[in-house]
Amino acid sequence: MDSSYQTLMSKILIFFLISIFFNISVASGDKPPHYDWTPLKNVTDPDVVNLGTFAVTTHNSQTHTSLVFDRVVYGLMKVRTDISGTDYKLIISIRDGTGQGTDRFETVVHRGIKNCIQCLKLKYFKGPVNSVLEFF
Ligand SMILES: *[C@@H]1O[C@H](CO)[C@@H](O)[C@H](O)[C@H]1NC(C)=O
Repeated sequence: MDSSYQTLMSKILIFFLISIFFNISVASGDKPPHYDWTPLKNVTDPDVVNLGTFAVTTHNSQTHTSLVFDRVVYGLMKVRTDISGTDYKLIISIRDGTGQGTDRFETVVHRGIKNCIQCLKLKYFKGPVNSVLEFF
């Protein structure tokens, strides 16, 4: 009698411990920091390439530099319901115009309306970066 009571109590205790653990891990959000960003499937898609060239040409005209777009290396997108439109985080490979080498730059481009080239806005542009992890 005593023994089966203890077994039952142990089972209840274990059940509670598991529930508490589960609740804590759900509440603390076991999600990566950029869980709401979706990776772009194809960074050679002309639409993505267009976002990359836009970032470089806009940055060039703002800062009077002559960086040359090479390719988009990696990209994430996030639909913005608060301001409407979509944000794109891109890692871009860039030639500096003088040497043969390429550097990686980070950029964020906002697009107000889907497929609207005129609705692009450069929000962030930085580089060269040593590690993609600085950004992502
Ligand atoms: C990515 O997009 C390019 C350009 O549209 C296309 O040629 C290529 O086949 C696509 N790759 C994949 C894996 O869909």
